[in-house]
Amino acid sequence: MNVLIIGAGGREYSIGMALKKDEKVDRLYFAPGNGATDELGENLDISDFNALADFCEKNNIELTIVGPEAPLVAGIVDVFEARGLNIFGPSAEASQLEGSKIFMKNFLARHNVPTAKYIETDSIEDAYRFIMTLDAPIVVKADGLCGGKGVIIAQTHDEAKKAVGEMLSGDSFGDAGKSIVVEEFLDGYELSVFALCDGEDYVVLPAAQDHKRLLNEDKGPNTGGMGAYAPTPLVNDEIYKKLDERVIVPTLEGMKAEGMPFKGVLFIGVMVVDNEPIVLEYNVRFGDPECEELMPLIKSSLLDLFYKGATNDLKSLEIEFYDKYAVGVVMASKDYPYKSSAPAEIIVDDIVHDEIFAEHAHISYAGVTRGDEGKLYATGGRVLVCVGLGDTIAEAQQRAYLLVGQVHFAGKQCRTDIAYQAL
Ligand code: AMP
Ligand code: GLY
Repeated sequence: MNVLIIGAGGREYSIGMALKKDEKVDRLYFAPGNGATDELGENLDISDFNALADFCEKNNIELTIVGPEAPLVAGIVDVFEARGLNIFGPSAEASQLEGSKIFMKNFLARHNVPTAKYIETDSIEDAYRFIMTLDAPIVVKADGLCGGKGVIIAQTHDEAKKAVGEMLSGDSFGDAGKSIVVEEFLDGYELSVFALCDGEDYVVLPAAQDHKRLLNEDKGPNTGGMGAYAPTPLVNDEIYKKLDERVIVPTLEGMKAEGMPFKGVLFIGVMVVDNEPIVLEYNVRFGDPECEELMPLIKSSLLDLFYKGATNDLKSLEIEFYDKYAVGVVMASKDYPYKSSAPAEIIVDDIVHDEIFAEHAHISYAGVTRGDEGKLYATGGRVLVCVGLGDTIAEAQQRAYLLVGQVHFAGKQCRTDIAYQAL
């Protein structure tokens, strides 16, 4: 089967890399892909949804998988489905779970899914009044998509009021911040939980933990994610059961009842407080870098999983995982996340191409561009992810960092404590 993957990051590279191992996959295409995905398949310079659908029809592509949220929110799934093409991802309507924090919070409230106490408003007075009913820290969120930057954790009431003022005036996030959510701060540990859904049935992947802060010990500014690991031993059967009963089932039933059945990846950002899973947010796609660790843990056919997800047939799937752990360390460019850095050539030591090494560790490329003579250059913020696999988290971590030591580019930076929560 020919498959198209939409996106350009390490997430899409890792999906492609895992699919490539599936013997049922013939040709792989990426739109737009990055400077390394051309090793896995063909990069397409097409962004218009109808032009992509034309390409799928002409090239016998039987499945499209969408990586990032932007094309989902913009309706790529609706365009493909109207033309009878198989695509794994939610409709534009269902993508509001990520596209609008207000939609998401009100949906959770309607369906009694546990979430932080909140108000949604576009009135500065209402926001101020609600802030005074909460203890600090206080969380202020812009309604719309802000590339992961629309959440302010204010340490004082005054800081919260300032954030509200800046958002509502349009100064900080433009129209995305013209409506806001103010909510209580939840103090616990965070999980990334992924349910793959076909509109009716679902399968849950092993829970992961992301490391959003730039520096060791979770210090420094928030980033898109500096590393992740899975499965996390912080989740027990009781928490999985609560997630199922209180979060996933009511969400999928609710989406169906409201006429927008959810198909695709439901990414549940969870805070566990006193053993109770509480929903922080929904995303409608895989996390990045969580995807890079989860893909190599799936033992059953990944093509089947996505294809059945896209064609409402997950109930016929028995999903199996390797009894292993994966740790992924993001290597970022010099000035990430503040500004972009000058392109830097990436050099990978020969040992990485050794078969035994490759069995336990690999690179998932993200912000890279291919230059002359086939050389790879670091051109994005998060450049690549070094993934290690092992029978224990410690072993997977050690292998990931062994690989980090084999990768060189000017200004490279990474955290040295990924997976510390589990060790
Ligand atoms: P979001 O974009 O909603 O995932 O928020 C980004 C990050 O802010 C989350 O991953 C959490 O680390 C943090 N966060 C969001 N909401 C809360 C909350 N109510 N309490 C504590 N931390 C939060
Ligand atoms: N790693 C978190 C995200 O993709 O949003």
